[in-house]
Amino acid sequence: MNYRHAFHAGNFADLVKHAALLWLLAQMQRGGAPLQVIDTHGGSGLYDLRGTEARRSGEAEAGVMRLMAQAEPAAEMTPLVQAVAEANSGGETWLYPGSPWLIARALRPGDRYDVFEMQPDEHGQLSDLMAERKAVATHCADGFAGAVGQMARGARHLVLVDPPFERADDYGRSCDLAAGVLDQDPAATLLIWAPLKDLHTLDVFVRDLEDACDLAPILIAEARMRPLEDPMKMNGCALALINPPDGAQAVLQAICAAVVAEAVGGKAQVWPAG
Ligand SMILES: C[S@@+](CC[C@H](N)C(=O)[O-])C[C@H]1O[C@@H](n2cnc3c(N)ncnc32)[C@H](O)[C@@H]1O
Repeated sequence: MNYRHAFHAGNFADLVKHAALLWLLAQMQRGGAPLQVIDTHGGSGLYDLRGTEARRSGEAEAGVMRLMAQAEPAAEMTPLVQAVAEANSGGETWLYPGSPWLIARALRPGDRYDVFEMQPDEHGQLSDLMAERKAVATHCADGFAGAVGQMARGARHLVLVDPPFERADDYGRSCDLAAGVLDQDPAATLLIWAPLKDLHTLDVFVRDLEDACDLAPILIAEARMRPLEDPMKMNGCALALINPPDGAQAVLQAICAAVVAEAVGGKAQVWPAG
């Protein structure tokens, strides 16, 4: 596997995913029931934007650095702005928090977080980062294979599925995982991230997801950074939100619109599948 998230940390796609994740965490923590978050593809958890990888790609410059420079970010982006500022102790932005950092920070007493990362070196960094957190278990294992087995009884479940999509079967395995999670807990909420290259791939994925999720409601959020003319490029990103909390459509629309706002030819749209 070649994928290293350090090249992409803090890019437009991370902003969409992490702003949505923070909103979901807040919504799902409203009731008294304990929340279990399962993150199938965790990465290392915290990224150095001054590092070689981030500087070489320049993706954070166009993403989080631009967001942090905004005088008045959209209200739906504010929780992410606050989290990034906190990760940097209120100073200059040079660290970007990944999903493990954001989720661990949000846990209440009684909540639990299971995070998978298959690459040993990335998992080593993740495990060091989470070492002091008693409610967090890191697993150096395949998240697609292991997630359902970690689901705790009696908790609400939020499952983040964020594969690299280097392998064609990441789409099919995401659908199979959604079916497995819903089989254990039909009320579980899943957030699946996917790249947006061409409409055919998205269309097939959404149809397979509908089949896998049976009658569970699904929202598809698209942040297109440019028209989908070149399928060899990542032209945007999509989120599939299964069992969305109330109000999700408007919030996802605002998040996608905020992220594509400065992209020439950009477009944001959120629609219910099925
Ligand atoms: C897109 S990154 C995750 C980013 C992270 N979720 C975040 O938002 O900060 C995908 C990660 O999944 C890891 N990975 C790839 N295949 C995996 C699998 N089957 N199970 C667990 N981790 C995997 C990669 O090593 C990589 O670190």
